[in-house]
Amino acid sequence: MLPQKQIESALQAAVSAVLPAADVSAVLVRPCDPKFGDYQSNALMSLAKQLKLNPRQLATDVVAKLDVSAVCEKVEIAGAGFLNFRLKNSVLVAALQSAARGEHLFFAKAAAPKTVVVDFSSPNVAKPMHVGHIRSTGIGDALQRTLRLLGHTVVADNHIGDWGTQFGLLLLGWKKILDRAALEREPIAELERIYKTTNAECDANPAQREEAKLELVKLQAGDAENVAIWQEMIVLSQKQFATIYRRLGVKFDVALGESFYNPWLGEVVADLLTRGIARESEGAVGVFSDGTLPPKEDPFLVSRDGEWVADPALVRKSDGGFNYMTTDLATIGYRLKTWSPTAIVYVVDDRQFGHFKKLFLTFARWKAEDSKRTKLVHVGFGKILGDDGKPFKTRSGDTVKLGDLLDEAEKRAFKIVSEKSPDMPEAQRKEIARVIGLGAVKYADLLPNRQSDYIFSWDKMLALTGNTAPYLQYAYARIKSIFRKAEGTIQNAEIHLAAEQELILAKHLLNFGFTLEAVAEEYRPNYLCNYLYELAGKFTGFYENCPVLKAEDEATRNSRLALCALTAQVLQQGLQTLGIETVEQM
Ligand code: ARG
Repeated sequence: MLPQKQIESALQAAVSAVLPAADVSAVLVRPCDPKFGDYQSNALMSLAKQLKLNPRQLATDVVAKLDVSAVCEKVEIAGAGFLNFRLKNSVLVAALQSAARGEHLFFAKAAAPKTVVVDFSSPNVAKPMHVGHIRSTGIGDALQRTLRLLGHTVVADNHIGDWGTQFGLLLLGWKKILDRAALEREPIAELERIYKTTNAECDANPAQREEAKLELVKLQAGDAENVAIWQEMIVLSQKQFATIYRRLGVKFDVALGESFYNPWLGEVVADLLTRGIARESEGAVGVFSDGTLPPKEDPFLVSRDGEWVADPALVRKSDGGFNYMTTDLATIGYRLKTWSPTAIVYVVDDRQFGHFKKLFLTFARWKAEDSKRTKLVHVGFGKILGDDGKPFKTRSGDTVKLGDLLDEAEKRAFKIVSEKSPDMPEAQRKEIARVIGLGAVKYADLLPNRQSDYIFSWDKMLALTGNTAPYLQYAYARIKSIFRKAEGTIQNAEIHLAAEQELILAKHLLNFGFTLEAVAEEYRPNYLCNYLYELAGKFTGFYENCPVLKAEDEATRNSRLALCALTAQVLQQGLQTLGIETVEQM
């Protein structure tokens, strides 16, 4: 068992010995400021607060029952009731040694694996994937990879938007103005064109909008011609999606589009009506406030002219059609029945915050028992901005297509690689540029706190210095080059930690698992980005101060090479968990 886990379970046992009834699941240890030690727990203070005990006294009682002498120096009680732990050097060495033998890579599989449905990417049919889709796709993919690495069961579900009012316009446009040759050449562009043109025409001519509605009604009623056209649009879109996902290395377990849930929509509404959760209003059906929340926090209310008025979650329109909300409710029903998940995680733009708040509250009212077992989480994120602080657009003011963006990333990376290594064969430069370019875009998107907006900057994300993917990829390649210079392979080297920078690096390596757990707990891949950036920095500190190939003796050299190898492994595993590849040479 990893030493930090040993401390944690010994601490939990000691707390249980003192307070047999306490819930110890939140009694955790975390890495801390080296001034205080290697690990710290603040859990006793919150426990004391809950139980109205004196925290220092509780800490003293717990420490009296706590035996961690096998892994730690003397445990210190600090401040209001913090516990500080300092690892024994021999234990740190043993942990590194077992990692070097391949027994672990500083993380442990979850003791209680969860089943998590991750709903991410979810583009819409007949529309191009644009720069904004990198957010849900990249964050969702990093989260699913982290959860899987920790041994959880993941269902990655692409909830494709393949249903809804836009198909009325698309069908009408298809029948009236489709250019078959253009569709063959550039299907998505042509679908976009017929959509935009028809929409503009409908704005000018209300009768045409009625026509579009009729096309939609026919589709919903199963009209053979319209269903065939709709399916063709889906197939064309899926080709586009597949190309992008292949480039990004993103895989889904299922891709159940919105239309998949059509058979259940009527039942959902009927059930909500019978249970009194939804009611009719002006011909439509909606879920209204139940008055249990203060108006400010109640998503079913909006303030208008200083008054709170109803803002229901509509589940059936007055024309009988169903809503986005209805589909999401049916989707929850299906997911519960199919996977009984511990959590369903929606990686969706923060602009849909209100939608998800309504959805989650409706779920809790609709399926109260299930909502105790299955947690719904909205993993929201902000916008990508241009230099001007406005949403990122092309020079001509169009949305940036994702495919074009990835092309440009590779092109720019190719220029950088070619300048750095002009003698490298072109095919190799191309491959490195692909890995660096895609990595740079993904990493720049994962690095900020996901809820903040960030400014898109090619220069910043492609820089070889600073907190970027190329910097980390370069750190990895540099370690690999040490091994190319070191002659022969070293196996089972004995690890010694003496120099300060060796200890700092070793302790940081040991914290990889904590970081992964925090990412999985709070759905924040940026924790892992920052961890890796610090790792690269600590490695540099080590490498500049502790000669490796020119070490004073064979034993030191081999021990340091082992540290290099472990750092490279964690860098590679960490980047891979963010969906970012590495190359052996740059
Ligand atoms: N297709 C939707 C959009 O582009 C996102 C779907 C998110 N997932 C969900 N279950 N609502 O806005």
